[in-house]
Amino acid sequence: MRLLRTRAELAQWRAEQQADGIGIAFVPTMGNLHDGHLRLVEQARNTSVLTSPSVLVSIFVNPLQFNDPGDLARYPRTEAEDCAQLAAQGVDAVFLPSVGDIYVDATVDGTGLEVSVQPGALAEHWEGAVRPGHFAGVTTVVAKLFHLVRPAIAVFGEKDFQQLQIVRRMVRDLDFETKVISVPTERASDGLALSSRNRFLSPADRRVAPLLYAQLQRAETRIRQGVDSVDQVLADSRDALVAAGFEIDYFVFCDVDALLPRRDAGPGILLAAARLGVVRLLDNSRVGS
Ligand code: PAJ
Repeated sequence: MRLLRTRAELAQWRAEQQADGIGIAFVPTMGNLHDGHLRLVEQARNTSVLTSPSVLVSIFVNPLQFNDPGDLARYPRTEAEDCAQLAAQGVDAVFLPSVGDIYVDATVDGTGLEVSVQPGALAEHWEGAVRPGHFAGVTTVVAKLFHLVRPAIAVFGEKDFQQLQIVRRMVRDLDFETKVISVPTERASDGLALSSRNRFLSPADRRVAPLLYAQLQRAETRIRQGVDSVDQVLADSRDALVAAGFEIDYFVFCDVDALLPRRDAGPGILLAAARLGVVRLLDNSRVGS
């Protein structure tokens, strides 16, 4: 497995793949890898879109998408363990740039960018409303990484569903040639969606945490059955979560494309974010398809 620490090393590796006529399958991450990330790697390797691709994983904790400096400082950095896991998965190369390598004019105060990619209406609600500027940070860094890597395909998790839809929209609106592929959410055996932030849950909160997905599933079933109104179903789930100690940022039912609330039953997606102690949990569940 090649370790590429600078954009120059990445460019050299990319040129070698190109010379050999090999397409690149790209998995962008912020590291601290868990089985969810590894599912994306597997999907990258086994995609039907490319035969024998070279799989590249990037590990870059992107300061531009953190609106809370504490969250950025606390974000777990586990490069050696991450690389060992990726090598065991047969990954071809890992891109581990520094902040100064991605943001060449960076200072202590910021990235030094004048131009950025603005995600528009899809980023206004839900995560975008709770974390102002977060999705512009994501689209900007993903656009930069796509330009540096020039992947044929890129793999994203459905766990961050709003992020996935925004990246898809960016690719479509700005004519990136990369094909975006998504992978279902990987969960612990009790249903909790795997996340790098789960490690900060207290033992008591870890026991309560699976209730978020349990309520998403319950709401999904009830909306599908269509006996009670969507408003009633959502209110019941919110009440159950609050009673268990969650502070809810949102628990909503939306249409899949615009991610705007829908009040009638039918195909859609339930999106939820809630805090337990210092940890924000994020999850979703599709209704119909
Ligand atoms: P990160 O949180 O490291 O996630 C990297 C990728 O792994 C994302 O596509 C995310 O949706 C996916 N992922 C995380 N947990 C998952 C799970 N339990 N099951 C399946 N997939 C999961 O998302 C980011 O990094 C950043 O915003 C990034 C896209 C790298 C841009 O900086």
